[in-house]
Amino acid sequence: MDDTEACKTKVPFLVLMVPVAPREVAARDAIRKTWGNESLVQGELVQTLFLLGLPGGADAEQQQEKLKQENLQYHDLIQSNFMDTYLNLTIKTMVIMDWLATRCPTAAYAMKIDSDMFLNIDNLVIMLQKPGIPKLNYLTGMLKRNMEVIRSKNSKWYVPEELYPDPLYPPYILGMGYLFSNDLPEKFLEESKFIKPFNIEDAYIGMCMKRLGLEPTSPPDPSQFKAYNKVYNRCEFSQVITYILGSAEELVKYWTDLKKPGSPC
Ligand SMILES: *[C@@H]1O[C@H](CO)[C@@H](O)[C@H](O)[C@H]1NC(C)=O
Ligand SMILES: *[C@@H]1O[C@H](CO)[C@@H](O)[C@H](O)[C@H]1NC(C)=O
Repeated sequence: MDDTEACKTKVPFLVLMVPVAPREVAARDAIRKTWGNESLVQGELVQTLFLLGLPGGADAEQQQEKLKQENLQYHDLIQSNFMDTYLNLTIKTMVIMDWLATRCPTAAYAMKIDSDMFLNIDNLVIMLQKPGIPKLNYLTGMLKRNMEVIRSKNSKWYVPEELYPDPLYPPYILGMGYLFSNDLPEKFLEESKFIKPFNIEDAYIGMCMKRLGLEPTSPPDPSQFKAYNKVYNRCEFSQVITYILGSAEELVKYWTDLKKPGSPC
């Protein structure tokens, strides 16, 4: 599935690529009502698209039919032919990179952003418009260094030594939301031919950067990229760029509150 008009007639400044499981229609709808529905931000064209693999389970056919209907309505789904599972997330990330490199190479920036995220899209574009933000070889977000590879088999993040032998990951940007200049996808695809895939997709991108001789960078204000949110605070949400949320309902609720008239602070 790939019938979006995105990048065909207009060149976006920023493309938001959201990996999402086939069943997570509530997450897609919440994003379509909130940050995904902003097409002109600070004078820049922004486009949001959703990335899916193939549905599984006994009702896979019905799920696929629903996805087709959903796409007929919104034309914002991109689906590739691999099983949509947690362990296949690195494949999904590389489909994102392939789509950007082949279908949207003229966009200036792209962001891989998870479907459970709050995104203050205005603050993100304002950050990208700052003088001195690199236009090439730029990867930023919440920077992680010296992260240990998890060898405990019970962990969601377990990676066997056969797939990744080193005890530490190279520097990488946390997968909840990483922003990159759009020259990188093509370079990642080339490097990926030499790096065995493992299931930690953000660290995999870190490996691609390392092979390219590049390092991810901290954003101008690292405190804008936040992970888990405990308490909603309107003033704070007006100043951050990302936060991980608990549900689609939270996203709609917080967004509506943030956008109501009156100064947030
Ligand atoms: C997106 O915004 C437009 C107008 O700004 C509105 O007409 C449309 O219903 C919104 N889409 C969703 C899914 O809320
Ligand atoms: C990943 O996708 C491939 C292709 O559809 C499939 O054969 C494989 O079982 C999937 N792997 C996992 C771990 O789900």
